Amino acid sequence: MKVLIVYGSPDGKGNSRRLADALQEGLKTENTEVEEIDIHDYKVSFVWSNYFGDALQNNFEKAGDDDMPKLKDKMFAADILILVSPVYWYQLGGRMKTFVDRWADTINTDFSSDLMGKGLALVTTHSGLNIMNSSNYLQLAMEATARFMGMVWMGAVDAPTSLPISSGPIDAHYQIAKNFGEKLARGENLIGQKVL
Ligand SMILES: Cc1cc2nc3c(=O)[nH]c(=O)nc-3n(C[C@H](O)[C@H](O)[C@H](O)COP(=O)(O)O)c2cc1C
Repeated sequence: MKVLIVYGSPDGKGNSRRLADALQEGLKTENTEVEEIDIHDYKVSFVWSNYFGDALQNNFEKAGDDDMPKLKDKMFAADILILVSPVYWYQLGGRMKTFVDRWADTINTDFSSDLMGKGLALVTTHSGLNIMNSSNYLQLAMEATARFMGMVWMGAVDAPTSLPISSGPIDAHYQIAKNFGEKLARGENLIGQKVL
């Protein structure tokens, strides 16, 4: 299995890093080829007026000299894409969101996507305050995005952060992430169903 992890937290030692590390540990248990990249190391242009129309024609001139061609090659080479992002206002972090906006680059005139058939998984961290709905909205948005793109939704793991007013992550969060990594390496979704 070839896995591309796209890391999207500006903090390389924070809550998202720890959860992503646990998942990586699980991924390593099988003969899996894993590449991790940090979205902050790549230049991704914002979408522009009539972007969708241009994307359907495969015309990306207005993106200028950005790194989307490189990122697309990496995505096309992978069987599973794993996005790692803290929840920012119920959604992906801005850098990651701009990257996902540009996934419409992969849509063809018949609305099929070149990402069709690939697995999509999410690793996300949040405040742990249920008044903020944790990562529920983000998970729903990414599951719907996977469906639209004809991708296979593999599931999501999350963990709360440590705040004076929340309990913070516990070992079980990291154990679940590690187990998820093991399942992904076997082409299984979070439930353990073999879907790839
Ligand atoms: C700009 C911003 C917006 C945030 N929005 C939310 C939110 O909507 N819901 C939530 O539960 N946590 C929210 N948080 C908390 C972060 O998701 C949480 O602290 C996360 O674990 C940080 O990950 P990191 O340690 O990798 O930076 C927000 C944090 C920031 C900085």
